[in-house]
Amino acid sequence: MKNAIVFGATSGIGKSLTEILIKEGYKVAITGRRLDKLEALKKEYPQQVLVKQNDIQDITQLDKVFKEIVTDFKTIDLIVQSSGVGYVNPKLEWGKQQQTINTNVLGCTKLYILAYDLFKKQQFGHLVGISSIASIRGNRSAPDYFASKAYQKAYLESLYIKTKSIKSNNVFVTDIRPGFVDTPMALGEAIFWMVPLDKAAKQIYKAIKKKKRVAYVSKRWIIIAFLLKLMPAWVLKKVL
Ligand SMILES: NC(=O)c1ccc[n+]([C@@H]2O[C@H](COP(=O)([O-])OP(=O)(O)OC[C@H]3O[C@@H](n4cnc5c(N)ncnc54)[C@H](OP(=O)(O)O)[C@@H]3O)[C@@H](O)[C@H]2O)c1
Repeated sequence: MKNAIVFGATSGIGKSLTEILIKEGYKVAITGRRLDKLEALKKEYPQQVLVKQNDIQDITQLDKVFKEIVTDFKTIDLIVQSSGVGYVNPKLEWGKQQQTINTNVLGCTKLYILAYDLFKKQQFGHLVGISSIASIRGNRSAPDYFASKAYQKAYLESLYIKTKSIKSNNVFVTDIRPGFVDTPMALGEAIFWMVPLDKAAKQIYKAIKKKKRVAYVSKRWIIIAFLLKLMPAWVLKKVL
C-alpha cells in the first residue's frame, strides 16, 4: 500500500484528490485546520486515513506534524500541497495579504523543504504543488495571491532542478496550475472555463500518475498561459 500526505485536505481540490487516492488504495494522512472536516473523512474511510490537524502558518507545528506522519507511515510516496488562501483585495488590506504570505509562501516553503529532504533521504517520492495560472503574471486586485503563486511556481521548478543531485532519479516534482476550479477559492469576477471539482481532481490525478513536470487544469489553460507570457505589461494594464 502506498502512503500519501495531503496538505489542505479539508475541502476543495485537496479533499477531492484525497478521495481519489483512497480509492486508488493509498493510505492518506490528511491535514488542515478544520478538525471536524478531517474527522468526517476519517469516518468514511477509517482504515486508510490518518488525521493530523495543522495550521501551515505555524511552521514549528508543521515540522512536528510532518515528522509524526513520517514516523507513523515509515515511508511516504506522495505529498500534495493543496493548502492555500487568496483574497480579492483591491485596497491592499494588510491583514489579508499577511494571511496569503504566511500560508502560501512561509508555510508552503517549509513544507516544500520538509518534503524534498525526506524524499532525498528515502531516494524516492513525489511532491505535487498546486500553484495556479495566477503564477504567470501580476494582477491589480490580488497582487499578494498572484505573487505567492509565482513564488510557488519558481520554488517547485527550483526543486525539480535540484533533484538532479538525487542519485536514484526517483524523486519527482509536479506543478499543477489550475485555471478556475469550482471551489470557494475561484477568485474574481471574470470567471470563465470553470472546471467542476471532480473533473479537476481526476485531471490532477492523471498528471500525478504521469509524473508530469507541469500540468494546466483544464488543458485549455495552456493557451491562456502562452498568451499571458507573451503580453507586454501595458496590455495587461489595459485588459486585467
Ligand atoms: N479553485 C480555484 O479556482 C483555484 C485555481 C488555481 C489554484 N488554486 C489553488 O488550489 C489550492 C486549493 O484550493 P481550493 O480551490 O481547493 O480551495 P479550498 O477549498 O478553499 O481549499 C483550501 C485548503 O487549504 C487549507 N488551508 C488554508 N489555510 C490553511 C492553513 N493556514 N493551514 C492549513 N491549511 C490551510 C484549507 O483547510 P482549513 O481551512 O481547514 O485549514 C483547505 O483545505 C490553493 O492553493 C489554491 O490557491 C485554486
